Amino acid sequence: MKETIIIVDFGSQVTKLIARRIRDFGVFSQIIPFNLLNDKEIDKNFVKGIILSGGPNSVGEKKSPKIPKIIYNLNIPILGVCYGLQLICKDLGGVVKFSKHREFGKTEIKILKKSPFLDDFYKLKNNYQVWMSHSDNVVKLPKDFKVLASSKSCDLAIIENLKKKIFGVQFHPEVVHTKYGTKLLENFVTKICSCQKLWSMRKFKNHMIDEIKLKVGKNKVLCALSGGVDSTVTAVLVHKAIGNNLQCVFVDTGLMRKNEVRDIKKLFMKNFKINLDIINASKFFFNKLKGVVDPEKKRKIIGRQFIKTFEDYSKNKKNIKYLAQGTLYPDVIESLSLVGNSKVVIKSHHNVGGLPKKIGFKLLEPLRELFKDEVRKLGKELEISGDFVNRHPFPGPGLGIRILGEITPNNIKILKEADDIFLNLIRTNGLYDKIWQAFCVLLPTKTVGVMGDSRTYEKICVLRAVTSVDGMTAEAFKFTNEFLENCCNEIVNKVKGINRVCYDLTSKPPGTIEFE
Ligand code: XMP
Repeated sequence: MKETIIIVDFGSQVTKLIARRIRDFGVFSQIIPFNLLNDKEIDKNFVKGIILSGGPNSVGEKKSPKIPKIIYNLNIPILGVCYGLQLICKDLGGVVKFSKHREFGKTEIKILKKSPFLDDFYKLKNNYQVWMSHSDNVVKLPKDFKVLASSKSCDLAIIENLKKKIFGVQFHPEVVHTKYGTKLLENFVTKICSCQKLWSMRKFKNHMIDEIKLKVGKNKVLCALSGGVDSTVTAVLVHKAIGNNLQCVFVDTGLMRKNEVRDIKKLFMKNFKINLDIINASKFFFNKLKGVVDPEKKRKIIGRQFIKTFEDYSKNKKNIKYLAQGTLYPDVIESLSLVGNSKVVIKSHHNVGGLPKKIGFKLLEPLRELFKDEVRKLGKELEISGDFVNRHPFPGPGLGIRILGEITPNNIKILKEADDIFLNLIRTNGLYDKIWQAFCVLLPTKTVGVMGDSRTYEKICVLRAVTSVDGMTAEAFKFTNEFLENCCNEIVNKVKGINRVCYDLTSKPPGTIEFE
């Protein structure tokens, strides 16, 4: 069993950051939506601390999120953040006064009292900056609580009941705007909860390999590869556990990047010696896509054809019991769905890899506890080359949503060539890892050009490159003019069918990363 910090989620936008910070200290953390918190399932042998997150509600509201009060008597240290602090105060007999005035943003707090929670902070004589977030105010503390820090507008910026090891902060220690916020969380985890920092990617890997072995036994597992990091890491991990009992399959939709099939073959068959079937289904995809220009229709056709191809393939695989999928922790949290009366945040997934449950396999999802950057770390632990582990995201429908208008084999060929030139230039100029996603888009419009002595009438290629943290917002990458000119010349000179290249400067919002 591993030592764990549980983070009870009340719907704050930054709850995931708490989990990330804690894992960075070498301690496993798990987010549980408040309505799924079951005190009977909290095993004191490995739950070393509980953090109550922030959230958009007011504890005074009738239907405000609550937790079983027995949590306070389990003798497990508790830290409340913003809403969490107010809930602690209300639950333990304090008084919280409702206010419509919201204080949100940078402010300074002053440390008033020594505490192991504030260990090194007491030495800091000066005020320091935190990211405050509250509207309601605690006007009376529960019995046996003390104030450790205050700000101009908030008397109770940090509170504690040292004997019961219950703490609260009226600001977000997990965001970068809070100076020493990470240290504060670390104090809680190491000094208050006495965690020993036992979590590491190597340990996770070994633990997972043992777990997969135990679960799968002598059964066979199927894994559909997309060429992306998640399915690659899943496959290599499962292969480490069960060797030849893993069968991978890659559906070549014809909508992949140039050399994708070759690279996948090389990585899986040659490097890792993993069983891999490649299904060349491109003609079925092109047939179904003939004459279709509506983006949503294209997506649906590609998705349906992918599932059909996969189903046809798996019909003959009766001896396979499990389907391995690269589901990640953010998907798990989102699908658990928050939250009583507040917002439900579910991202719509339009991923071709999302296979229907009726296929009849049991699911094996060894990455469901990991964040994306942790998957990359695990990939490195599994000795998957950096080129694969640090790949930009690539959408399920592939180049299909990067050709505006009709998808034809010839359009795909043109786009593949241009895209390959753009990405190679990005790589050779050392820019690949600075960019979230880079690709070319082919427009259906033709424009006039001149090449040599003759007039051309060809398509437009748009270059798109963005920086982003999570794909939810994005900004155009700032290339030098020289670099862009170079890309432009290379593409127009080398790719037959394109005579004009543009660079897209639109950020997201108001734009999106993809064009369709
Ligand atoms: P947008 O275009 O919505 O893209 O700003 C955000 C991120 O999602 C990816 N994306 C997709 N991924 N299937 C996928 O698997 C899709 O249909 C799809 N559409 C967009 C996009 O590449 C970017 O990383």
